[in-house]
Amino acid sequence: MSRFKAVIFDLDGVITDTAHYHHLAWKRLAEAEGVHFDDAFNERLKGIDRMGSLDLILAGSPKHYSSGQKQALADLKNRHYCELIATMSEADLLPGARDALQAVRAAGLKIGLASVSKNAFTVLDRLGIRDCFDYVVDAATLANSKPDPEIFLTAAHVLGVAPADCLGVEDALAGVASIKSAGMFALGIGKAEVLTQADIVIPGLDHFSLEKI
Ligand code: BG6
Ligand code: MG
Repeated sequence: MSRFKAVIFDLDGVITDTAHYHHLAWKRLAEAEGVHFDDAFNERLKGIDRMGSLDLILAGSPKHYSSGQKQALADLKNRHYCELIATMSEADLLPGARDALQAVRAAGLKIGLASVSKNAFTVLDRLGIRDCFDYVVDAATLANSKPDPEIFLTAAHVLGVAPADCLGVEDALAGVASIKSAGMFALGIGKAEVLTQADIVIPGLDHFSLEKI
């Protein structure tokens, strides 16, 4: 029997490699604006919502941007991103993702999705896995993005599970911080030296085992 009653997954970079597409789309925009963009900076953007990410990028520019200009840039980045995800399919599930979802279901736990991406429903549909979740948080309804705990607390609340009985799964620094401030156990996906706040870190869902957590 698992010590948890629910598992709440992040999407981008955990279930599918859309973190890479966000990276490409932001890099293209940053470079067009003359802002330096490297892998370390990208790490800080993971899990941050669209306008929050844009603000972090534009902080590196000497130019002043009006709110209209910012909205236009955010829309442009989203168009680039949507072009990149347009051809996604079931084949774009990361290794171990489907098995992990099935193992959680077989263990009788609830399954939630906590992504701040407003494209999450589209990505889930392209991957053909929307039905695997008992509840998917709609990012458009959130007042606060990660690292605020709101998204994970909302998922736990709707699933009817106390935060202490939830396992959160995340590839982003901001996401792990969100899980920890929600009072949940954090399973990091990536590198332990990056996701220092996570309780356990594995390289990918192909290493996921409920029994070992
Ligand atoms: C998160 C990603 O899941 O969603 C971020 O980690 C991204 O990189 C954020 O900026 C918002 O996504 P979207 O699709 O609403 O622009
Ligand atoms: Mg992520």
